[in-house]
Amino acid sequence: MAELCDSRSLEGFEPPVVESWEIAMTFEHIPVMVDEILSIFDDVPPGVVLDATLGGAGHSVALLERRPELGIVGLDQDDDALVAARARLEPFGDRAQAQKCRFDQLGAELDKLGHDQISGFLFDLGVSSHQIDTGERGFSYRTDGPLDMRMDQSAGRTAADVVNIVDDRELADILRNYGDEKHAMRIAKAIVAARPVTTTSQLADIVRDATPARDKRRGDPSKRTFQALRIEVNEELSILESALDAALDRLCVGGRGAVLAYHSGEDRIVKQTFRARVDVDDHRSPVPLNNEEFSLLWNGSKKPRDDENNENRRATSARLRGIERVKVAAA
Ligand SMILES: C[S@@+](CC[C@H](N)C(=O)[O-])C[C@H]1O[C@@H](n2cnc3c(N)ncnc32)[C@H](O)[C@@H]1O
Repeated sequence: MAELCDSRSLEGFEPPVVESWEIAMTFEHIPVMVDEILSIFDDVPPGVVLDATLGGAGHSVALLERRPELGIVGLDQDDDALVAARARLEPFGDRAQAQKCRFDQLGAELDKLGHDQISGFLFDLGVSSHQIDTGERGFSYRTDGPLDMRMDQSAGRTAADVVNIVDDRELADILRNYGDEKHAMRIAKAIVAARPVTTTSQLADIVRDATPARDKRRGDPSKRTFQALRIEVNEELSILESALDAALDRLCVGGRGAVLAYHSGEDRIVKQTFRARVDVDDHRSPVPLNNEEFSLLWNGSKKPRDDENNENRRATSARLRGIERVKVAAA
């Protein structure tokens, strides 16, 4: 196990040598619901907004352009994203900082930078188009590549480590819990029988073969397995609640938080974490509810407009929630 965690399961794949300037030039990601996000931060007090998932800095650049009295602290755990973001944030000088950091460490990072309070935060969860579209990163069931899937390629287990180590029950739990896969056990057994599984194409073929024909009609059945493994590898759901709580604790009065989630498991955690802060006792209320400290900006979640979905199919699953601190925390 220990030796697999240093990525030996990816042996045989020579990572291509890519220069930083090339990453900065070719990094592509279309930011989602930009107008809605900008309007959330329109009236927040001057100060620093935390972009906990900086990516290619699309949202951050838009915000810095719109609100000259705001600064950005941007975090990302992906080195490619940081290269692209730093290049795009350069024109804003010391108004913007980009740090390599997994967002469950945001408190320590903000302490280090001297920001005990923030005017806002944004979490635009999940993966960037750059990560999905770069075959060597191993996120895509459409392109062949090593079965990696780590956002931070310097740490943690790869997807190959997971599929080649865990037993079929644990694997089935991962597929069921993070991918809503109804054939979880059947697919898990097929993966275990085919070990070692080292490439994205190999995994995608195993899943397709293990899926009954009647369930192959609506899209590629390997999509759910890839989503589940990505969530497991990057511990996406287990660190979300504590990270949101840490960001909420730092909001100044009038400060606002926005979260874009892309699947139901993620959105459920955002909803529950926000609702716990507003102490809502009637979840059927049609109007935003609030307690002393926080107020939901609207009830439920917002979806992208149809025209955005038509232009960017990756936006379609987005769900946006917003919250505001309305009073200081009780001592
Ligand atoms: C959807 S993209 C963000 C795109 C960005 N809003 C933009 O406009 O370009 C999500 C980014 O968050 C990063 N990310 C996801 N989970 C993270 C975590 N736990 N800590 C730090 N970065 C994370 C990913 O590496 C990816 O670059």
